[in-house]
Amino acid sequence: MSNDRTQDFYDEFWPKNVPHYDETKKYMLDTITGRSYKQAMDGGCGHGICSVVLSELAEKVFAVDVSKNCVDTARRQAAEFKRTNIEFSVQDLQELDAPTGQFDLVWCWGVAMMAPDPIKVMNHLMRVTRPGGEVYLGLYLKTWLSPVHQGVRYFCRAFMNTTRRKKFVLDGFAKLTNVIVKLRGKEINVRADNVSIQAQVDDWYYPPYKTFYSIEEIIALFERNGFIAECIQDRLGRMKSATIFVVRGVKKP
Ligand SMILES: C[S@@+](CC[C@H](N)C(=O)[O-])C[C@H]1O[C@@H](n2cnc3c(N)ncnc32)[C@H](O)[C@@H]1O
Repeated sequence: MSNDRTQDFYDEFWPKNVPHYDETKKYMLDTITGRSYKQAMDGGCGHGICSVVLSELAEKVFAVDVSKNCVDTARRQAAEFKRTNIEFSVQDLQELDAPTGQFDLVWCWGVAMMAPDPIKVMNHLMRVTRPGGEVYLGLYLKTWLSPVHQGVRYFCRAFMNTTRRKKFVLDGFAKLTNVIVKLRGKEINVRADNVSIQAQVDDWYYPPYKTFYSIEEIIALFERNGFIAECIQDRLGRMKSATIFVVRGVKKP
């Protein structure tokens, strides 16, 4: 299925919400075990800050996104950080055009589950990994709240999607969050890399496609594709209190 609606959404989203380099880098260095790679891929590069960090760990980076505006934004980040070893490509990871066994590091954080067919994306990520290479895959965790989330997302997209209504939803969540913060006396849901609450809510309730997974099914998928896999972060990573888990898979030689 075509990914045009995801492309439209992120064409708007990332150019306005580029995260901080320092915090993104700190998170990535805490997550990625190696420090020297030949060829890395950033699957769903969005704003491009992760591609910049990968370009400091790998000789060459292939950064892919379905959104042209994202790739333009990512190119600007690469120029700003004077990185010349990143090749950008506008394409859909569901039909990824890249050689089999090409990359020794594949980074795909918060992306695959936004595609109409996430398994197609994941199969390609595993296909393009070199034997001995690593895949870092960040996905939304399936919990009892996932159907509630999907219900709110369908409602927001169907009925609260004009400029005024969307602003009402995003500002409403931001205000509610601030009230909860005051009541609890401690910060919640604040991303150290400075993506605003409104932007997080936008990314949470307005993307056209979203699938939640259990850790077990993703580990089983890796194993069926000849990987050894483990969950290295269970919701405590880059977005405190959000439901992303990260699986690291190493392709068997
Ligand atoms: C939540 S953002 C994550 C961006 C970045 N990876 C990060 O960690 O901050 C999701 C990105 O994936 C891209 N994306 C979603 N589906 C895609 C697909 N099928 N092929 C390529 N890119 C896709 C979107 O355009 C968007 O830039």
